[in-house]
Amino acid sequence: MALHRLPRVNAEYLEGGAEDERSLVANRQAFDEIEFQPRVLRDVSHIDLQRTILGATSSLPFAIAPTGFNGLLWHRGDLALARAAAFKGIAFAQSTVSNATIADVAVTPGLRHWFQLYLYAEDPVWERLLQQAATAGCEAIMLTVDSPVLGNREWDRRNYQSGFTPTFASKLDMLHHCRWMWQVLRHGIPSFPNLEQFVPGQDRSLYAVARWALANQRPQTDWTTVARIRKVWPGKLILKGVANMADVRAAMDAGLDGVVLSNHGGRQLDRSAVPLRLVRQARATVSSGFALLVDSGFRRGTDIVQALALGADAVLLGRAMLYGLAAGGEAGVQRAIDILAAEISRTLALLGLRSVDELSPEVFA
Ligand SMILES: Cc1cc2nc3c(=O)[nH]c(=O)nc-3n(C[C@H](O)[C@H](O)[C@H](O)COP(=O)(O)O)c2cc1C
Repeated sequence: MALHRLPRVNAEYLEGGAEDERSLVANRQAFDEIEFQPRVLRDVSHIDLQRTILGATSSLPFAIAPTGFNGLLWHRGDLALARAAAFKGIAFAQSTVSNATIADVAVTPGLRHWFQLYLYAEDPVWERLLQQAATAGCEAIMLTVDSPVLGNREWDRRNYQSGFTPTFASKLDMLHHCRWMWQVLRHGIPSFPNLEQFVPGQDRSLYAVARWALANQRPQTDWTTVARIRKVWPGKLILKGVANMADVRAAMDAGLDGVVLSNHGGRQLDRSAVPLRLVRQARATVSSGFALLVDSGFRRGTDIVQALALGADAVLLGRAMLYGLAAGGEAGVQRAIDILAAEISRTLALLGLRSVDELSPEVFA
């Protein structure tokens, strides 16, 4: 439904990976490498899907990953994701490059609100964003560290002639997607309100902010910056985009609260390790109480069950939620969450297990 509704530019933005998309493909293939050996004749009449994530109860063992530019998929897409997450009792991670302010998202009743931080320009920029996150009551900061520079996404160059101006062919294709086009015509192109405040001059358009963000990336960021952030942010601090055990250990040593094993859904370094394959080793590396999250390639309940059985505390979902968003806004995200919840529940029953917490590597043995 999502692909039917979206123009090609947006569909490629949602689905695409970097360069030859090897990581994108490998992320999915890895799930086929492991098979379940289910147990039978066990009472599975009641299934408990709750999970403790970062010290608080989540009604399901997954959360919504931070994704930027959700307004490209649905008007006020960030709010639709946040509301669906709150309604279903799971956490929502808001991206720095979302199309809503931190405060706008924070008013969602009952939301577990995480803020994903990209670092731009000088320290006062992230210091201000963290202040705004604290004022809004964000529970956790997710510092994304796999993007010192932007991945090489060739579809972007194909679809835009310069900056953010779509090519003539892309514009024509947009006109063919009337339901999407109608939303844009009615509401206009969304902006990046969390970054607007840092852009000098009068121009606050999407293009101006995107230009500023690209010109102000911080490839010089290192662990000393992480230490400064740790000092300033008293709440949970998670490193997102870790794919090497040395960095998992360094994150623990830096006093962080967890990591997300991730290759950014195959959008950054192509041929970066598949996070699912790292889970078992990471579980053996981290101490208990240190959150081990994983993402990249999760589309089905069985995928999520595999990662939890290997030792992950929870899974983040990017595209699986965005398909729901692009297909039907808030209702579409709720539907996507329901589909996955039903799949996890069914998988547990078929494995002979009654709760997510009973999962262990024994399901493979
Ligand atoms: C359209 C899109 C936009 C994304 N934007 C961000 C972002 O702004 N910040 C971030 O840390 N990760 C971003 N990601 C990566 C996701 O947080 C997550 O790591 C990835 O989607 C997981 O893979 P999956 O899509 O296969 O679930 C984005 C991913 C997608 C698909």
